[in-house]
Amino acid sequence: MKKITIILVSFFIASGFANYKEYKSFPEPTPTSKGHLIYQEMGCPMCHGHSGVGDGFLAQGLEPKPRNFTSFKEMKGVPYQSMYTAIKDGIPFTGMPAFNLNDKQIDDVISYVRSFLTENYITISTCLNIPQVVSLENIDIGGQINVEKDKPKLFSASLKAGEITLTPDFTAMRKIFNEKNSKLARVHVMLTKTTENKKEYLAIIALRINNCIK
Ligand code: HEC
Repeated sequence: MKKITIILVSFFIASGFANYKEYKSFPEPTPTSKGHLIYQEMGCPMCHGHSGVGDGFLAQGLEPKPRNFTSFKEMKGVPYQSMYTAIKDGIPFTGMPAFNLNDKQIDDVISYVRSFLTENYITISTCLNIPQVVSLENIDIGGQINVEKDKPKLFSASLKAGEITLTPDFTAMRKIFNEKNSKLARVHVMLTKTTENKKEYLAIIALRINNCIK
C-alpha cells in the first residue's frame, strides 16, 4: 500500500493536487476472493469503483476516465495482455499507476476485474477455419440462453448438448486478413440470459483467429 500511496501522491502533486487525502467510506464489501482482496487493498476502487463501473471518488478528476468494467462494449477491446501490462507498468498519460504485484497476484486481480462482466471468461486461439469446441458443463446455465456474436459475418457458433462449436468463416477471414494486411482478428461469443429486461452475461468466449496460412 505504501508504494502505491507514494505513486499516487506524486501523481497528484504532478497534477497539481497538492492537498491529497485518501478517502474511505463504510460499508466496504467483504472480499470474497484473492483478486477481490488485492483490488481493495491496492486502492483500485478509488478510481474504478467498488462495482467496477469507474465511479471511484478520484475518477471525476481523471482524463481519460476509468472505463466501465461491467460493459462488454468497453471491455471487449481489452485483452489479458493489455490488462497485465497496464497493472504492471501503468498506462502513460492516464491516471493508471503501476503496481508492484507478482504475476500470480496480477492474474488474480485480472480475474476479479473480468468477473464484473461475467464469472466465465475464456480466450482461445485458432487458425482460420479450424473449429473450436468449448464445453459448458461447468457453467451453471439454468434456463433459456442466447448465443450472441459480436461479428456474425466472420464466424459461426452453434450450441448443442452442452457444447458450443465456433468455426471461423474461411472466405470472410481471408478477405479481412488480405484487406487489412493483418495476422490476427479477435471475435467474441456471449452467452446471455435476459431476466426482467436486464441482460446478464453467463459466459464470454474471446476467439483469437490467426492467419496461419501464408
Ligand atoms: C488513480 C486512479 C487509478 C487507480 C488507483 C487504478 N486505476 Fe486502473 N485505470 C485508471 C485509468 C485512468 C485508466 C485508463 C482508462 C481505462 O482504460 O480505463 C485505467 C485502466 C485500467 C485498466 C484497463 C487497461 C487497458 O488495457 O486499457 C485495467 C484493467 C485497470 N485499470 C485495472 C486496475 C487495477 C486492477 C487497479 C488496482 C490494482 C487499478 N486499475 C488502479 C485509473 C486508476
